[in-house]
Amino acid sequence: MSTGLLSGVRAVVDGLHPSLADPAMTSMNLLNEVSARHPGAISFAAGRPADEGIEVADVHRYLDLYCAHLARDRGYTDRQVRAELLQYGRTKGIVHDLVARALARDEDIVTDPEAVVITSGAQEAMVLLLRALAADERDVVLAADPTYVGFTGAARLVGVPVHGVRDDGTGVDLDDLARVLAGARDAGRRPRALYLVPDFANPTGTSMPVDVRRRLLDLAAEHELLLIEDNPYGMFQPAATRPPTLKALDRHGVVVYVGSFAKTVLPGARIGYAVADQPVRGGGLLADELAKLKSMLTVNTSPIAQAVIGGKLLEDGCSLVASTRRVTGQYLAGLRRIGEGLAARLTGVPGVRWNRPAGGFFTVVTVGFPVDDALLHHAAERHGVLFTPMRHFYHGDGGEYQLRLSSSAVRADEIDDGLDRLAALIRERSG
Ligand SMILES: Cc1ncc(COP(=O)(O)O)c(C=O)c1O
Repeated sequence: MSTGLLSGVRAVVDGLHPSLADPAMTSMNLLNEVSARHPGAISFAAGRPADEGIEVADVHRYLDLYCAHLARDRGYTDRQVRAELLQYGRTKGIVHDLVARALARDEDIVTDPEAVVITSGAQEAMVLLLRALAADERDVVLAADPTYVGFTGAARLVGVPVHGVRDDGTGVDLDDLARVLAGARDAGRRPRALYLVPDFANPTGTSMPVDVRRRLLDLAAEHELLLIEDNPYGMFQPAATRPPTLKALDRHGVVVYVGSFAKTVLPGARIGYAVADQPVRGGGLLADELAKLKSMLTVNTSPIAQAVIGGKLLEDGCSLVASTRRVTGQYLAGLRRIGEGLAARLTGVPGVRWNRPAGGFFTVVTVGFPVDDALLHHAAERHGVLFTPMRHFYHGDGGEYQLRLSSSAVRADEIDDGLDRLAALIRERSG
């Protein structure tokens, strides 16, 4: 190949979308890379569910169950069952009715199944929503600061600016929200939506008190702001009764609910969904508009993967409460062990403190020295332990002295050893 052709190719691949230079786009891959390079390190970095939850044999059973359901309950012939699973399918998905039933049973969210769009993970739902809402250069979205990198990265990809709203420990500081809204409007911007994770947020682990949820809903209605409620962790909590979701409390029609089966069933199926029941000008629902976008993004979500999740829902009577309760015990024990283990090892070390979330996957540790990617590499190489620097989750400044520990994917018998390693690092740097 001639050098001329090579340099020509280089010139073409140089001019790529600006989002690719944004740190938000690299943070998920960074953690994967560091983990791959240090397979012996104990990882508090991964936010994935425990490996032990589900077996390949379960997947076969779920598929069979879903096929039997199509034949028995819907009267499909063998040929129709085959087509439903193996052909291109309905853009909004095929398990929307089962998802709507599960939402009614588990979350008290009553929705028309037609308002449910099944997506390739919650991630696709976020991209679709952002694409739909970012109509012109005036449009911006708001998000609690810090926030989940998947949302920030999706916003970069779509090219919509994200304005951070302070988290005062309740998930969102409502006074700051009012200030950010006013500031954006004064600058000629149009805030379209606020993204948040009210239950055991990623990365902070905090949950929004019910009175704040109610006030937030009123504020959103007053400001004609949509709320994008992302709820992958709500099931993983200790009490028998969970706080109501924003969507269940919503009397104004301002909440678009984003769900995921990644943590409650299995991430490998890549099944999530959006409940977008807002009517749009000209008729139809926001869900139908999202489906139009989806038809040009992923065409439709894999029906085979949907059938796996559908079978799981059928097996459990369209409720995930019982099956998640089993694994929740394990997650809560991990969370507790991390909190107690930090107290045993680091109480009294200057500048070191941590929060104690009641559920979910995440604990945030504050330290007296900068936590950046260089420290993560050092921790992996010298101490054999991994975490996530909180910097990655902030829109601007913030999190420079904090790290996130995830308790979901670390084995119970490794937590103490991992905390010994982390404490050695913290003591070394606090010295
Ligand atoms: C807040 C939040 N939303 C969504 C997701 C991912 O959802 P999915 O795997 O369905 O794309 C995660 C995963 O870590 C998350 O933390």
